[in-house]
Amino acid sequence: MSLGTALLMQCSKPSGWLGRVNLWSMNRRHSKVTAWGLKHVSIQNRDTILDVGCGGGRTVARLAAMAPEGKTYGIDYSEESVAASRRANRKWIAAGRVEVLLGSVSHLPFPDRMFDLVTAVETHYYWPDLNADMQEILHLLKPGGKLIIIAEAYKGGKYDRLLQRLEKLPGIMNYAHMSVSEHRELFSKAGYSDVQLFEEYDKGWICAVGGKRG
Ligand SMILES: C[S@@+](CC[C@H](N)C(=O)[O-])C[C@H]1O[C@@H](n2cnc3c(N)ncnc32)[C@H](O)[C@@H]1O
Repeated sequence: MSLGTALLMQCSKPSGWLGRVNLWSMNRRHSKVTAWGLKHVSIQNRDTILDVGCGGGRTVARLAAMAPEGKTYGIDYSEESVAASRRANRKWIAAGRVEVLLGSVSHLPFPDRMFDLVTAVETHYYWPDLNADMQEILHLLKPGGKLIIIAEAYKGGKYDRLLQRLEKLPGIMNYAHMSVSEHRELFSKAGYSDVQLFEEYDKGWICAVGGKRG
């Protein structure tokens, strides 16, 4: 198996030294699409924010900087991701501005109506029960709060052919392969309002935003 293949197999739940390499690499690779995606939501100084599937923690750090008087949480079901996120955010954690927890999107350990914003970057397509997991997040949003999903892997996107080839390799891409309109449907079915989809086809980027009714 090539190193590239082995790294791809690590994307859904990084572990061990290869997981650490992948998390470091994803922190770099996902930075631009994340910056682009986050332009589609407004983040206030005092916001309470959750990044689901936080991986190596770069998005958590970015969000903490964007909400300097608020608090940012990261959660991931991979111990390697949690450790990497904690390392990347150790100064914010020491200052009480960031917390990183181990846990699954399906059982989020937070009270209802806690968050102004929930972000999910390059992770939702691995979730075990997308509709239920989206509803789980909806409970945690304050009225008027938003969920934003940002991704490079989607049906009809620039990298579609590559993804279809990867899907055929055993164990690599067990993920929800959804088009732009299927993303819209996913948000609406789960009960989100004001659903908006943004696509940057030339870059292969998609971003979906939905809100909780106020
Ligand atoms: C492709 S990585 C992306 C990491 C990071 N968001 C980024 O943009 O670099 C996917 C991450 O989602 C996490 N993940 C996948 N399924 C999850 C689930 N059901 N609950 C929590 N985290 C999950 C994985 O452990 C991994 O860290």
